Amino acid sequence: MKKIAIYGAGGHGRVVADTASMLGWQEIVFYDEAWPQHQKNSIWSVVGNYENLLANLAQYDGVIIALGNCALRLEKTRELARLGAPIISLVHPKAFVSSISTIGQGSVVFAGAVINIEAKVGEASIINTGATVDHDCVIASGVHICPGANLSGGVEVGESSWVGVGSCVHQGIKIGANVMIGAGAVIVKDVPNGVTMISVAASQINS
Ligand SMILES: CC(C)(COP(=O)(O)OP(=O)(O)OC[C@H]1O[C@@H](n2cnc3c(N)ncnc32)[C@H](O)[C@@H]1OP(=O)(O)O)[C@@H](O)C(=O)NCCC(=O)NCCS
Repeated sequence: MKKIAIYGAGGHGRVVADTASMLGWQEIVFYDEAWPQHQKNSIWSVVGNYENLLANLAQYDGVIIALGNCALRLEKTRELARLGAPIISLVHPKAFVSSISTIGQGSVVFAGAVINIEAKVGEASIINTGATVDHDCVIASGVHICPGANLSGGVEVGESSWVGVGSCVHQGIKIGANVMIGAGAVIVKDVPNGVTMISVAASQINS
């Protein structure tokens, strides 16, 4: 029986578990710092905290970090990989991922997402429900492309950045590391490291 451990028993963790279930993982358990108060995440059990997960690593065929905090998700994924954990990536069967694209360990691609030809996604990244990452995009590690965000061709997104729900990024744009793109933003210029961007700046530019 294929066993997977998911660290992070919140809403995102539930989507990760549901995706794993669709992919045929038969035994799915959570670990979370809220254990033992938090015993259940939807239909799945929470069986311990991070320390317990470290002690039980040998029991699992797959391990994945499901924390919403981008930097922490990346840090924990790398730490567990160094300790020899079998870090996996998960691609929902209803996502489209080009065979000429790459996805790093610990990353998830949810239902309805599209990753087009020659796009690269690093480790511990989330390509969330219905997001699109078009041809030649380079998504670094620990990135979250939120539900319904659309990245045109050749966009680059730096480590631990967050591209908000329903946002839209013009082709060829470079977004730095540790950036927060707000919900619904339209990005038409490069974005430096560490900033938050909001709003849709559409205006008439010719008569
Ligand atoms: C941009 C964002 C990070 C700002 O969060 P924050 O720093 O806590 O900012 P606040 O909520 O205090 O808002 C500050 C101001 O910006 C405005 N604002 C916040 N987010 C905005 C957005 N996405 N677009 C336009 N305006 C926004 C607020 O209305 C507020 O305006 P006011 O000062 O006139 O009242 C956040 O609102 C956001 O959009 N996060 C992304 C959410 C997301 O993608 N979720 C997906 C989960 S899977």
